[in-house]
Amino acid sequence: MFITLEGIEGSGKTTQIQAIARWLTAAGRDCLTTREPGGTSIGGQIRSVLLHPDNSDLAPAAELLLYVADRVQHLETVVRPALAAGKVVVCDRYFDATLVYQGYARGLDKDMIRRLHHLACKGMTPDLTLLLDLEPEAGLARAWRRIDSDTAHVMESRFEKEKLLFHQRVRAGYLDLARREPRRFAIIDAALDPQAVTAQIETVLKANFQQRSGGTD
Ligand code: TMP
Repeated sequence: MFITLEGIEGSGKTTQIQAIARWLTAAGRDCLTTREPGGTSIGGQIRSVLLHPDNSDLAPAAELLLYVADRVQHLETVVRPALAAGKVVVCDRYFDATLVYQGYARGLDKDMIRRLHHLACKGMTPDLTLLLDLEPEAGLARAWRRIDSDTAHVMESRFEKEKLLFHQRVRAGYLDLARREPRRFAIIDAALDPQAVTAQIETVLKANFQQRSGGTD
């Protein structure tokens, strides 16, 4: 099973992915947590190009292709082998982020992005996507607190430096995708405290696993 986490900057994905891994392990599932960009060592190098604040002149199409390159490497060497071994793969961001950031927010053609995904990644789609939703003002305030307290995060702040309007487009894009695919997406209220967010996620996971096992689990 392939689960993805999505959300704006500061939506709490990093905290929640750890809670998800603990929940899955306690439920007896073999799980692998990973992320995009940067889920492989080559992806880590691509990530530093993509997120470095000095790279503000990166052309939108080059940005798109770097995310796709990271994803191809990640799918082939990490995600597909883990799924084939029967693991639950939980990934911090995936293709929906490309549609939302490069399509809805950056303005690249969304159908072209979808075609590229089919071409490069065989259209690989998650089984479940958890969307951690909150107001961009609140998310950005959290993200900047983290950047200001840790120099490592400064080197990855290219997207946080985007204007509020960009982040509002990202949020609206995610909500639009969730509305179009309500069976795959679960919208989680990420404005609550971390424990309350975890509780919502656990309810979704429980229901999802029960449904998949025909209600006998
Ligand atoms: P994160 O690891 O903190 O989520 O940062 C990754 C950044 O990259 C985040 O700002 C969203 C952005 N991103 C895209 O623009 N397109 C993509 O396809 C992905 C996976 C991430």
